[in-house]
Amino acid sequence: MRHLLSPLDFSVEELDQLLDLANDIEQHPDKYAHKCNGKKLATLFYEPSTRTRLSFEAAMMNLGGNVIGFSSASSSSAAKGESVSDTIRMISCYADICAMRHPKEGAPMVASLKSSIPVINAGDGGHQHPSQTLTDLLTIRSLKGRLDNMTIGLCGDLKFGRTVHSLINALVRYQNIKFVLISPPELRVPSYIRDNVLKNFEFKEVSSLEDAMPELDILYMTRVQRERFFNEEDYIRMKDCYILDKAKMTLAKDDMIVLHPLPRVNEISVEVDDDPRAAYFRQVQYGVYVRMALILTLLELV
Ligand code: NCD
Repeated sequence: MRHLLSPLDFSVEELDQLLDLANDIEQHPDKYAHKCNGKKLATLFYEPSTRTRLSFEAAMMNLGGNVIGFSSASSSSAAKGESVSDTIRMISCYADICAMRHPKEGAPMVASLKSSIPVINAGDGGHQHPSQTLTDLLTIRSLKGRLDNMTIGLCGDLKFGRTVHSLINALVRYQNIKFVLISPPELRVPSYIRDNVLKNFEFKEVSSLEDAMPELDILYMTRVQRERFFNEEDYIRMKDCYILDKAKMTLAKDDMIVLHPLPRVNEISVEVDDDPRAAYFRQVQYGVYVRMALILTLLELV
């Protein structure tokens, strides 16, 4: 049985197949409308979410399946002190596959050890968010036509932003990817990513978004992760460190695309939404197709 705990759980070839499947789902949704008849997805969300949870739920419904679950720790037995290991053993009796989001790094991995159904890590603390990475890869491949030979700027909270950590992990496997890591010094990528994952790759760490703009093929904006700060003052000091607006967009290539895992706070001004290069709402739609492809793959229905 397979789980999705990290973006590296699929080989590059398997990822290609998964993204091909997602594109086929986009083109021929009717072909897939009953593939999960009689199957259940459990969404176990111990941390707030709108997109990820509803995107998994919509994906399962589009496949003809059903959904059960909870959307906060306080409404689950975690509030009574139940461990994720016990919860997953029980959920394994109710559902065929589950997506788990948890504030503690590694919780979905711990769950997978006791699970008899596939576990999808839907975000674990400041660590990883592999299904968002699948979404990002599908968006990039669909809009740029490739996953190699690109300069990608990752901007904002690179320390706590789990989507950034997972995306870097995934992209280092493609040829000629250059990373421009744009953040205040306090919010740089964690050293385990800089020293282990990025060690043999081309990357630079800068603090000016304006300076980086002209060379980027992709700009991946992120929110400052308020809930992971130890004190509110630091958050307030850094929350508006980058604001992408129309003026900054004039510095970018005509075919650059702007991505954001959402939710956005202030880091992209709404005036940018109408720019044809703003792709973050299209990214949300790709998230449903790729999660449909993921569910089918993990349930071995393809
Ligand atoms: C992201 C997350 O939860 O890490 N959101 C999402 O799943 N699309 C990004 C964020 O919360 O900033």
